[in-house]
This record gives sequence, C-alpha cells and structure tokens, in this order.
Amino acid sequence: MAVSTQDPAEVPAPQEPAAATHPLDPLTAAEITAAVDAAKADRDLGHEVWFVLAILNEPPKAAVRAFDAGTETTLDREARVVILDRVDGSMAEAIIGLGDGKVRRWTEIDTPGRPPFLFEELAGAANVVKEDPRWIEAMARRGITDEEQLKLVQVDPWPAGNFDFPGEDGKRLCRCVSYVRTFDKDNGYARPIEGVVAVVDLADNTVVEVTDHGVVPIPEEPANYDEAAVGGWRTDLKPLEITQPEGPSFTVDGNQVKWQKWSFRFTLHPLEGLVLYTVGYEDGGRVRPVLYRAAISEMVVPYGDVAPAHFWKNAFDSGEFGLGRLANQLTLGCDCLGEIRYFNAVMHDGHGRPYEMQNAICMHEEDFGILWKHVDSYTGYTETRRSRRLVISSIATVGNYEYGFYWYLYQDGTLQFEVKLTGILQTAGCAPGVTPPHGQMIAPGLYSPHHQHLFNMRLDVSVDGDENAVYEDHVEAAPAGGDNVQGNAVVAVSTLLEREQQAKRKIDPASSRSWRVVNRSSLNRLGEPVGYRLIPGATPTLLARRESSVSKRAVFTTENLWVTPFDQDERRAAGDFVNQHPGGDGLPAWTEADRSLVDTDVVLWHTFGVTHVARPEDWPVMPVEYSGFSLKPAGFFARNPALDVPPSPAACH
Ligand code: CO
Repeated sequence: MAVSTQDPAEVPAPQEPAAATHPLDPLTAAEITAAVDAAKADRDLGHEVWFVLAILNEPPKAAVRAFDAGTETTLDREARVVILDRVDGSMAEAIIGLGDGKVRRWTEIDTPGRPPFLFEELAGAANVVKEDPRWIEAMARRGITDEEQLKLVQVDPWPAGNFDFPGEDGKRLCRCVSYVRTFDKDNGYARPIEGVVAVVDLADNTVVEVTDHGVVPIPEEPANYDEAAVGGWRTDLKPLEITQPEGPSFTVDGNQVKWQKWSFRFTLHPLEGLVLYTVGYEDGGRVRPVLYRAAISEMVVPYGDVAPAHFWKNAFDSGEFGLGRLANQLTLGCDCLGEIRYFNAVMHDGHGRPYEMQNAICMHEEDFGILWKHVDSYTGYTETRRSRRLVISSIATVGNYEYGFYWYLYQDGTLQFEVKLTGILQTAGCAPGVTPPHGQMIAPGLYSPHHQHLFNMRLDVSVDGDENAVYEDHVEAAPAGGDNVQGNAVVAVSTLLEREQQAKRKIDPASSRSWRVVNRSSLNRLGEPVGYRLIPGATPTLLARRESSVSKRAVFTTENLWVTPFDQDERRAAGDFVNQHPGGDGLPAWTEADRSLVDTDVVLWHTFGVTHVARPEDWPVMPVEYSGFSLKPAGFFARNPALDVPPSPAACH
C-alpha cells in the first residue's frame, strides 16, 4: 500500500516509440503525448491539473473481431484520459480520437470517490510530514531528536479510507505512519513508531493533523536480510540451469503470443496490471475463443486490528495505487529462469509525460512434471508425457508487500492464475507483556495485525463465442431408498445461474462446488454444451463485519463469485474511483438490476485470496504464499487435447 518509488520524471523518455498495429495495443508514448496535448488544447486546463490516467479506450469487441478477421483494416484508436483539478478536486474524462487528435467526448465525473494516488503527491506528503512541528514533537516524545535520526525516519503514506471523520468530507487525503531506520537500507518495518498518525491534504500538500495516541516502546531488534545480517549464506547449493538450445516454443508478434495451440494478446494496464485479451485454443484447424479479456479488477487488504494506527488500513492497491504502475523492472535469472522474453511497458507520470518501464512483463516456459502417464500392467507398455506451461507474469511492489501475478497456460487446455504474495509484513509495536488480541507476535515487542489479501479477477469469458451461460455444479449423496440400496450413490448437480442476484455465490469445497461457463449453441459430440470450469481455491471472503467501512467499500469481497451481463463501462469491481469512496459502487450497484445471465455475453468476477495470520517464519521477509484459481475445459474438447504432445527425447525411452 504505502509507496515510495523513483520519480518518474527522472526516467528517460522512450527512444523509439513503436507504432500500434492492433486495436488492443496499449497506447504508445507518442499516443499518450498526443492525447494529453489534445486535452490541453481543448480546454484551458492551466497548470493545476494531474493526468490521472491516459490509456487506451478499448474499442468495441465487434471492431476488434473485424480487425482480426481482416474485414476492417484501419485502426480507429481512442485514448481515455482522466484529468484531476488539483485545486478543487473535480475530475473529468476525455475520449480522444488519436487519428485526428480531437476530443470526441468530455464528461465531468460525478463521484464521491477520488482518483488513484499520483506518485508525485505521495513523495510530497512524506516530506511535508517530516517538517511538521507536531510530528517532530511526537518523535521527540519517543527520544528521536537527533537530526540524522529524524532524516532516516521512513514515512509511509496510506489511503485514508472513508470513515465519516469530521473535516475529511470532500478532501483528498492520505494517512501517514512512521518507522525508525538506523541506516539507509535498514528494514524500517522492524521498528514501527506506534501510535502516531499524520493526515495530509493532497490538494495543497499540507498536514491536516498529527495524532499521537501514546508512546509504545519502539522494538529494538533489527530485521535485515543481507548476508551479514543473516549470518552468512548456506554453501551447499549446486547450480541449476535451464537451457533451451533451440529457443522457446512460443512466438511473439507485437503483443500477440502463440504457444502450443494457445494464442492471446497482452498488455500492462496502469491500475489492473497484467491483462490478457482474446485467449483461444486451436482445435480442429480453428482457434476457439475462451476468454475475451481477463485482469484484476480490484483488490483490497483489510487489516483487522483496532489499534489507532491500524484500524483504518484498507489498501485497495489497484484502484488507489495501480498494479501496473508499481510493476518491477525484472532481472534475468532472479525473477524468471530460462529462455526469458521480457516486455517493456509505457506508463505516464502525473504531468502526462510518458516513460518506459523496462522488463515489466516476463514470459517463459516451465517444465511442470508429468502431463499424463500410464503403465500397462500386463505388458509393461508405458507412455509418459511431460507437461510444459507458458508463464506470463508481472510483479508489483506496493510499499511493504510484493504481489506477483502469474498466468499459466497448459497444453491440456487449462488456464491458471496465481498470485504470489511476498515482501514484508505490516507491523505494529506493543508493550512488553501485552498479547495483541488482533495480531500475531513475530519478534520481541513486534506483531503483525491479522489481515486479508482479497483480489477480484474480472473474467470476460467467451466460450466458443460470446453467448454464454453459467452453471453452478456440485456433487452430493443421492437420496436414500430406490436403487441406492448401499447408500453409496452420488449425483452431480448443475444449477443454471439465471440472474445476477442468484449468481452471487461462495465457494464450498466440501461439495466440490465450481462454476461452469457454457455455450448452449455449441454442442460437443456427446450433445452437451461446450464449457470451461472456474475452479476456485480454498479462499475466504471478507471477515470484517458488514457495518464496517471496508465492507461497504469492498462489497465485491463478500462473495466469491459474481456474474454480470457484459457492459463495457462496468470495468472495476468497486467502481472506477474507489479511493475514499464511501462504498456501494461497482458490483453491488450494477447487480441491483438483477439482469438476466442466460445465453448472453457474461462476465464472471471471482474474488479470491488469503487470510493472513502471520507466522514468525514470515519475518523479516515472507516466503511466497500462493493464491489463485484454474479454468479447465469441461466438455470443451472431445477428449484429452494433449494426446498429441510428443514423448520427451532421449532418456525417457
Ligand atoms: Co499478508
């Protein structure tokens, strides 16, 4: 959540902006500049604006398909630009035609929400807090008086949330908490300066208030993880090298990827991070669509502690910060191993100036154990195939946490999405002898408040075409009596989810509950509609009580599944502007209409994640925790589609 990052203004502008060649290509640097210039030319914006977003205004599906089919060859690209008036906080959205550089639509945005934070603002907020006499006094009460000590203090800006606190209405705010660092690269999270919260008004970068809720001893133990701090590295690890002498098995053309019968496009959205488009699998000489678009539509990390420096911590890292903007620039051999293909991404700063992020997306292949195998017991006849998967990934650092977002494509038609959670726990200090009721001790005087990480994946499915329906499947014991003499009979039960209200669902692993997207006008050879199954993991929903602020703002986390009919303006699970929003926008608002979901273009919104009661082993830096889901063909193919994968060469025979 809290973010420190290099000032994008210091990053060199891209050298040779590539031209877009497809309707779904992200905006190039030149297109971002053109869109921002067009907005400036159309209105007298002055200097007091931020360019919150300058992204592709995604074209209608029909236009994309016409382009892919070759029936339409011209590109009519549009930019969507969101502009924030820094003084009065008002926002506007401009749709700009990139062909003629003209504003096609200008809309004042009417929302109680705020835009995602700009990095420029957050850096300013931390600085102004450290100059505030009230904050300096609070530090002095904890013995932090030395100028050098004060300079080293780490100030993390957080989203303010919405708690109806007096004086906060209408303002654009962040709340800041502080940590002691004893040297430059020290892990500040080891020494939280408990109880001090500074509120900053981002409109004029002033400190509204500094509250000191009382001195709690600052933990003394450092928690660094460099070689010296660890006490030396183990020495018995032999090299493990991945070689692919003939290169990888995928091909890349612009943003289009082909691999093992799969094809898809991808991009890095500033807020949503990794986006996959037009995912299809070649079968019988044609590419059969599975997904039109898939991306994280929102996420939230609610903290379950009552302490004054923690109860308000609810980080919507997508809508308040941006998972694409915070993407790491990856390094060969560290983040990905083997024959790696990296992709850069073009982002922009608050002034609308484009910059290029190097190696923001990683793609490679991985061996994944066996794909299928059988030994004929009578003859010893054996067939074994190894499984290979294509991995496309991006890692975002959001303050203390790292989130790795991984899509896996498998040869048997399975798609899998996995979030890897790592980085450093959010920490709190407590007095000796105190057992924190809402957290887990991780070091002397230091605990980690209980919290959740909840993600919502928007799956704009297209199973053999857009007209789909969704069944909930589960398995149960058959009724007693009749032919169920032994009581062992089970039945698989399918229920059509006909309307939006009925389609708000939770997982139920005990009954193998899953959700199957079908195309009822495309039948397989058994006469059943072809389908793809969303298989959830063992995932929680939101634990906070329904009257809590976060529950109102993150209603999407109260169910594991939502289904809506496609609407191109329904993009984000908690609405477009979740920052400081009081709640109710997004899925709860749209599904009020209880629209029909049968044989229409449907979108699945899957909420998944982890409840995190920290372990001492998560400290000082957390081993990766995994969360995600799978999409598996269910009657989509006539049989195992991976029978034609050849045996591995050499030693297997
Ligand atoms: Co966690």
